[in-house]
Amino acid sequence: MNLPMAGDAPAAAPLTLASIPQLQEEVRALAAERDAVILAHNYQLPEIQQVADYVGDSLGLSQRAAQTDRSTIVFCGVHFMAETASILCPDRTVLIPDLDAGCSLADSITAEQLRAWQADHPGALTVMYVNTSAEVKALTDYCCTSANAVAVVEHIRAQHGADQEILFGPDMFLGAFVERRTGRKMQVWMGECHVHAGIRPSDIEQMRDAHPGADFLIHPECGCSTGAMEYVAAGDISSEGVQMLSTGGMLDYASQARPGDTAIVATETGMLYGLREQAPDVDFIAANEAAVCKYMKMITLPKLRDCLRAGGGSLYEVRVPAEIAALARLPIERMVSIS
Ligand code: 13P
Ligand code: SF4
Repeated sequence: MNLPMAGDAPAAAPLTLASIPQLQEEVRALAAERDAVILAHNYQLPEIQQVADYVGDSLGLSQRAAQTDRSTIVFCGVHFMAETASILCPDRTVLIPDLDAGCSLADSITAEQLRAWQADHPGALTVMYVNTSAEVKALTDYCCTSANAVAVVEHIRAQHGADQEILFGPDMFLGAFVERRTGRKMQVWMGECHVHAGIRPSDIEQMRDAHPGADFLIHPECGCSTGAMEYVAAGDISSEGVQMLSTGGMLDYASQARPGDTAIVATETGMLYGLREQAPDVDFIAANEAAVCKYMKMITLPKLRDCLRAGGGSLYEVRVPAEIAALARLPIERMVSIS
């Protein structure tokens, strides 16, 4: 196999609608040559989702990465996701089409900050959302995703007793959601995802007035999630119509929805593509059209093609130092095993 290195790749031409099918064909051919599996998050651009071997939420993607028999994993998502795959699969080459695809939530806690927080709470167990750096995971007892955060906290309480102190971070809205679901307080870090925090209770109010009878699918990272739970508690929105779901849970909802249903979707707007593909006769409406993650959208077809051409050892490879990976593996493996 004689593939050009990243430095030799021609500068990516602007993507046009007409160039998409040819680029997708090229990507599929390169993935076969490289023995690569392409994993894509639910917020990725439609043309990326179409060429992926698997599209899913953070938990499903980690599980797929852990199970793959391919020698290369190409992660179409953000950096912490590719790091997680690399930690789980140290003998595989892990590539990301843009190393700068970060995450504002992962940036909201550093390893130094976590160390200081733990020093203030000796004896506490630390649960960190998967949206964190490898260094933070290395200091963590259990990782979780939005799909299994409640199950992880319940598991800890079953193993260590109901009074076990828990440090939960970095997302404060997810933390509030878990406290409400489990009925017990935790120490919660005050971090947030700028995209989800921007979906406000007023968005839900407006949508409730404009679409009476619609279902609400709300990602627990959203700034409106606490407010929505309060509306349910007050009887303003029927509890059957409001579901707090991971992005994978939203797709499960779509697979069971009836034609003619309307659902307001409170999460990153990339989610709408997969939902509409899954249930074309359901009206999915964004709770807030401005909820776009610029990091997720940094992954484009030309960059995916270039990254596959360049392969391992290039500027697209994600590597986690062995000593950090060794410590971060256990909390991630615990997360992957609790669904
Ligand atoms: P999930 O896909 O796990 O629900 O997470 C959403 C998210 O914001 C990932 O960055
Ligand atoms: Fe991070 Fe928010 Fe983007 Fe998800 S949507 S990758 S949490 S910045």
